[in-house]
Amino acid sequence: MKFFIDTANLDQIKEAQALGILDGVTTNPSLMAKEGISGDEKVKQHYIDICNIVDGDVSAEVISTDFEGMVREGEELAALHEQIVVKVPMIMDGIKAIKYFSSKGIRTNCTLIFSPGQALLAAKAGASYISPFLGRLDDISTDGIALIYEIRTIFDNYLFETEILAASIRHPMHIVDCAKIGADIMTGPLSAITALAKHPLTDIGLEKFLADHAKNK
Ligand code: G3P
Repeated sequence: MKFFIDTANLDQIKEAQALGILDGVTTNPSLMAKEGISGDEKVKQHYIDICNIVDGDVSAEVISTDFEGMVREGEELAALHEQIVVKVPMIMDGIKAIKYFSSKGIRTNCTLIFSPGQALLAAKAGASYISPFLGRLDDISTDGIALIYEIRTIFDNYLFETEILAASIRHPMHIVDCAKIGADIMTGPLSAITALAKHPLTDIGLEKFLADHAKNK
């Protein structure tokens, strides 16, 4: 399972990269705004900065919602760095754009996936990744993990090469559940990744080992 971090914060990306377990980064317009990154040139430079930190794919989202606009923006973003994957929203013009990008060898991540039908359509158009938002489904009392399971079944039935990038991860159990089902990738905050390491018996055990070692000196 690949681990992506879902942030545009350079310090957190550096911290995750330093752990040695980072496979990529996802961003979105809200995450860019949170870091105060605005204006075409600054946004592009920020994507390049992220690519220079991480060894792996970096999703950069288009803002346009019409086919021509998405193609123009996506081509500009893809030209910034070989690690860039163009993030396209799940709308019909987005599907058309994904098909176009796929024919040009430009990799895409279809975002805002909330149903198996949307995932099927994006895979059919040739998306490299699809991003089901499981946390946002959980937020409205709908089973986000069940969606990942349904998409896994559909993709396996037809041997789609599109990778399932489980997004909107909120906590470590989301990551574990996605791993059990076979999501190809998860993207989440650094806090959810580091929380995987925590267990009270590990802390108690380590404390005892160190105390016994000190007594033995
Ligand atoms: O980047 C897309 C997705 O991961 C958003 O997550 O926490 O805003 O629902 P969240």
